[in-house]
Amino acid sequence: MVNKLSLRTRLWLRAVRAEYWLARTLLPNVYSNDALICFNNHAFVDDPDFQRAYQRGARALGDEDWYQWQWRVHVGLWAASSASHLDGDFVECGVSYGFLSSAIMEHLDWDRLNKTFYLLDTFAGLDPRFVSAAERESGALAKSEEHLRRGMYADGADSVRANFAEWKNQRIIVGAVPETLAEVDANSIAYLHIDMNCAPPEVAALRYFWPCLTPGAFVLLDDYANRGRDEQRVAMDEVADELGVSICMLPTGQGLLIKPAG
Ligand SMILES: C[S@@+](CC[C@H](N)C(=O)[O-])C[C@H]1O[C@@H](n2cnc3c(N)ncnc32)[C@H](O)[C@@H]1O
Repeated sequence: MVNKLSLRTRLWLRAVRAEYWLARTLLPNVYSNDALICFNNHAFVDDPDFQRAYQRGARALGDEDWYQWQWRVHVGLWAASSASHLDGDFVECGVSYGFLSSAIMEHLDWDRLNKTFYLLDTFAGLDPRFVSAAERESGALAKSEEHLRRGMYADGADSVRANFAEWKNQRIIVGAVPETLAEVDANSIAYLHIDMNCAPPEVAALRYFWPCLTPGAFVLLDDYANRGRDEQRVAMDEVADELGVSICMLPTGQGLLIKPAG
């Protein structure tokens, strides 16, 4: 498979990541990647099951892992494995090339579970109708256009369909959240991943799916604690407050919610 990123973007990513390489070189045994430098144990990176799943995720990106999301994937695999024992299907809002979902499906030997994985994306970046005024002002739409141009977001669903073709129990839903939410015909949901890099559709997805979540279901918010994404965090905290739950902020930049029983 060819790389989906432009050469310019690949060189830019390498330069941006030099600081992580420097930290790993100066401080052996330190995890240093993806906005996280951590001195604690990260033995999961050497686990062959993790490595197999991670590599399948990276395959969705083309011939090079330009995400370097090891710890985020570790959290995603844990949430998905735990959710696999519950009643209900899996949903991801914001799929792009399908990195995290592919890793999860590989890890769980997906079709064996008899669950459906619903994969929702515009496959065309942010939809201007569902971006807040503050996000618009801060240049979110221009950034999304740039991500599409540089190959950092999937532009079109065809290559994504090809990536997921090895699994039977998946449904790719093309279009903008919240308009496509009703196309998810699951009776119950055990795992929900929200990763659209803008607040209005993320909030709409959490509100919409909350009543269908099985008690104990896992909700992973990719952007919750990312630097520069305060609007998403504040908006999600407001919804969580209304729902009577609180979000655990993770050092990976993710947020984690568990639907309480009863
Ligand atoms: C950071 S990427 C998702 C990465 C993905 N979770 C992964 O594992 O690689 C964000 C995605 O959200 C999508 N997106 C943004 N706004 C959306 C909306 N309103 N409805 C559906 N998808 C949207 C973009 O097209 C983009 O592909």
